[in-house]
Amino acid sequence: MDIAHTIAEARRFGAAARAAGRTVGLVPTMGALHEGHYSLIRRCRTECSCTIVSIFVNPAQFGPAEDFAGYPRPFDADTDACRRLGTDLLFAPESREMYPRDQLAWANVEKLTRHLCGTRRPDHYRGVCTVVLKLCNILTPARAYFGQKDAQQLAVIQRLAADLNLGVEIVPCPTVREPDGLALSSRNRYLSHDQRRQAPCLCRALFHARDLLGAGQTDSAAIIAAMTKLIQEQPQAQIDYISIVDRDLLQPIPRIDRPALIALAVHLGPARLIDNLPVDPPPAKTLEYCRDV
Ligand code: PAF
Repeated sequence: MDIAHTIAEARRFGAAARAAGRTVGLVPTMGALHEGHYSLIRRCRTECSCTIVSIFVNPAQFGPAEDFAGYPRPFDADTDACRRLGTDLLFAPESREMYPRDQLAWANVEKLTRHLCGTRRPDHYRGVCTVVLKLCNILTPARAYFGQKDAQQLAVIQRLAADLNLGVEIVPCPTVREPDGLALSSRNRYLSHDQRRQAPCLCRALFHARDLLGAGQTDSAAIIAAMTKLIQEQPQAQIDYISIVDRDLLQPIPRIDRPALIALAVHLGPARLIDNLPVDPPPAKTLEYCRDV
């Protein structure tokens, strides 16, 4: 496995791979890799003949009061994992390499970034879009792999790629969960033993919502109220938001009458955890027509 710390080296590697007729796949990460990331790398390896993993804790996507300084950076363990998984290039630039001066040009996706995590993290997706665009410009991958655990990020990047004609196929990959349902996240390592025990309340609330929908409940407010009740049973869980939005533009909908996303963010001690579930409206009831006229 090659390791590049500079943009020039990474560009050279990507260009040489393309010139050799290889299909370049990119797995963008912020490191602190876990099974969720590994699944993206494995998928990339099966679909592309050249796998590039980037590890970059992107300062532009953290708010001033967020965990940029304390974000875990286990670089040696991450390097070993990338090597073990058969990565061809690990691109791990420093902040000053990616942002050598005041950044004046930004990429952004409107509307989709307004709700859910965008409400309390106003510049977050602008930072994500900008760094993903930079990585695509540097490495020119044919495909880039993103987890469905951050459904809003995935939708935003799909729209970025489509609206700006990036020429990169964005490949969504399923959320990887612990046996008790907790979605894997680098931030799970912030949880104390007790908080970890409470953390599956996010997925339990989502699965409960799915059951309610299956039983015919389509009213968003009623579903959100039931989810809220379930999460509030955990002493340390502080709900940031629970929202039901349409899957296209991520706008809140009063009723699940089209493909929707149920998404939530919950603070548990130092960790802000997110999770989501895509759902479809229950099939319309078939009308019983009178046979005997
Ligand atoms: O999902 C992440 O880890 C980050 O938001 C990403 C896509 C690597 C951009 O920094």
